[in-house]
Order: sequence, then structure tokens, then C-alpha cells
Amino acid sequence: MRVAVYGLGEIGRLVVKALMLRDVEVVGAVDIDESLTGRDVGDVSGIGRIDSSIYPSLGELLSNVDKPDVVVHAAGSFLDRVVDQLLEIVEAGSHVASTCETLAYPWYRYPDEAARIDEAARRRHVTVIGTGVNPGFVLDSLPALMSMASFRLERLVATRSLDAGRRRSKFREKLGIGLTVDEYKERAAHLTGHVGYAESALLLAQMIGIGVGKMEEGQHPLSEDGMITGVSGYARIEDGEGVERIRVELSAGLGLKDLDEIVLEGEPEIRLSSNGIHGDYATAAVVANIIPRLPSLGPGIRTMADVVRGGYWWS
Ligand SMILES: NC(=O)c1ccc[n+]([C@@H]2O[C@H](COP(=O)([O-])OP(=O)(O)OC[C@H]3O[C@@H](n4cnc5c(N)ncnc54)[C@H](OP(=O)(O)O)[C@@H]3O)[C@@H](O)[C@H]2O)c1
Repeated sequence: MRVAVYGLGEIGRLVVKALMLRDVEVVGAVDIDESLTGRDVGDVSGIGRIDSSIYPSLGELLSNVDKPDVVVHAAGSFLDRVVDQLLEIVEAGSHVASTCETLAYPWYRYPDEAARIDEAARRRHVTVIGTGVNPGFVLDSLPALMSMASFRLERLVATRSLDAGRRRSKFREKLGIGLTVDEYKERAAHLTGHVGYAESALLLAQMIGIGVGKMEEGQHPLSEDGMITGVSGYARIEDGEGVERIRVELSAGLGLKDLDEIVLEGEPEIRLSSNGIHGDYATAAVVANIIPRLPSLGPGIRTMADVVRGGYWWS
């Protein structure tokens, strides 16, 4: 497959590295950062020259190289801000694997944008999917697949804790790490924290077939000695009878333990914990590993529920 990367920031660069490990031809990249224009994608990604250029727009890329089969999009979290980028890729006729968190389950926050992308993707016969580590894997796909081994399932609780000191700088920035509590209050409207609690919970509900009666999400900053050190948040889903069936939690902060824990309550309880899947590498990996599967998912917006097909038979 011939792949281009749209958004060559820290995640886009890791994706390039992952693609090189898989012998994929990276035909070019698009990034609005003018300092990157004309540079070699491999050089910028830290793997040495691969004779593939960075262009300031998709149009420029397409006038220099043949249409890529797939474009990996890693340029933003909010679908209303990246919808035009995604539509441009779709109209060019390429499949899209994006790390845009709100595209992982787009109908919750952005139903109108989702409808526009879905219509265009069906018309152009391409697949569009939003995925990554989270939403995309640890708090949704992984517990859903694990639930296949549940004898009787009552509730799923997925918890992720991570040391933000080991993550990319952009991640720490969006949590406000390093600001004083007062600075944080001033800038709070511009700091996203983690994006995707609700998307993970809704994806998980969709994967298992749990009807959603109520969904709630929230997050708050963590602080120590007047300084912001991270964020902690959750989403929870109740079924139609008001019983909590899904809870996902994520805390990211300086010095927090790296740990993922999934508990499937029921008979018998299943509990699985890890030493903490590294989010940046896992995001690049999930996106790279999904590429050969994209065409078989069918045209339109697809989610990880179309990829992870096994799970508990909720009735
Ligand atoms: N689903 C998941 O699990 C998951 C995991 C990790 C990351 N993410 C998301 O993936 C995205 C990328 O993360 P990151 O850390 O790599 O961010 P980043 O370092 O900010 O990289 C984004 C890159 O895209 C460029 N860009 C922005 N708007 C553009 C446009 N209109 N056209 C072309 N390029 C554009 C940026 O340029 P400038 O720097 O000049 O703006 C930057 O180089 C973020 O939204 C992040 O939240 C999702």
C-alpha cells in the first residue's frame, strides 16, 4: 500500500517509523508548519532520508505524487475543526485512518460532520476510521474482546493510569502540566485535557450491545504544591434501568504509575492488568496495523466496533 501522512507532528512521525518497519511506501506528508515544507519525511521523523517530501497542502502532494491508497491523518482532535481536511482526503479517493479522538465515535459530539463524511466516503468508496490507543484500544476494544471470555457479565470497568512524564510534550501541554493553578484557571478554556472518555465508553457499549440509558463524562486537573501535574477523568454508562454497566477512567500525571486494569464484574470476575501500554507508540501501532484491513471494512465511517467483532453476548 502507498500511504501519506497528514499532520507530521509527534504522532505522525511515529506512524512513519511504524510504517517503515512494515515496509510500507510512504509517498509524502502534509503539514502546515512552514518550517517543514520541502523537507524529507524520513529525516523529520528521525529515521533518515526516505526520498519522500513534506508538502504544505494535500493539493500540492497530489500534484507531485500519485494518489495514496491510504492517508493517515494526525492533525487534530475535534471533528468540527478537521472535517474539511478529512473531506479533502476522501474526495481525493484515499482511505483514512485518523487519530482524531472524536472521530472514534463521531455521532456523539458531531453528528452533522459525521453525516457529511459518511456520505462522501460512501460515494467515493473509501473507509474512514478514527482510532488510536484511547479511544481505540485500551478502554474499548480490549475490554470488549476480553468480555468474550465472560460467563456472566454485569459491569465493565476499564482504568488507565499513566506517567505523563513519559509521554510526548504535546500531550503534557494539552493537560496544562507545568502551569501554576492560577495560570491553569486563566487558560482552562483552551486546554482540552484528555479527549475521548465518552467516545471510549460509547464504543464499548456498541461493541457489546449494551443499550445506553444515560452517559456521563467529566475530568478535573491534578495539582501539587500549586502546580498542575495532570488530569483525571471518567465516563460511565447506565443501561435503560439505571444500572451502571460501563465505567472508563483515565488519569495522566507526572509520576503516576503506568497501569491499565480491566475488570469484568460477573461470574467469575475477570481482572487483567498491564504495566501500562505506552500511548504514543500504541497509537502509531494501532493506526499502522489497521491500514491493510481498511478496504475490507467497507465504505463510509467505520469504528473499532467494525474491527473488533468478538465480545460478550449481551441480551
Ligand atoms: N486516538 C488516540 O488514542 C490518540 C493518541 C494520541 C494522539 N491523538 C491525537 O492525534 C493528533 C496528533 O497528535 P500529535 O501529538 O502528533 O499533535 P501535534 O504534535 O500537534 O501534531 C499535529 C501536526 O499537524 C499539523 N497540522 C495542524 N493542522 C494542520 C492542517 N490543517 N494541515 C496540515 N497539518 C496540520 C500541526 O502543525 P502545527 O504544529 O504547525 O500546528 C502538527 O505538525 C492530536 O489531535 C492528538 O490529540 C489521538
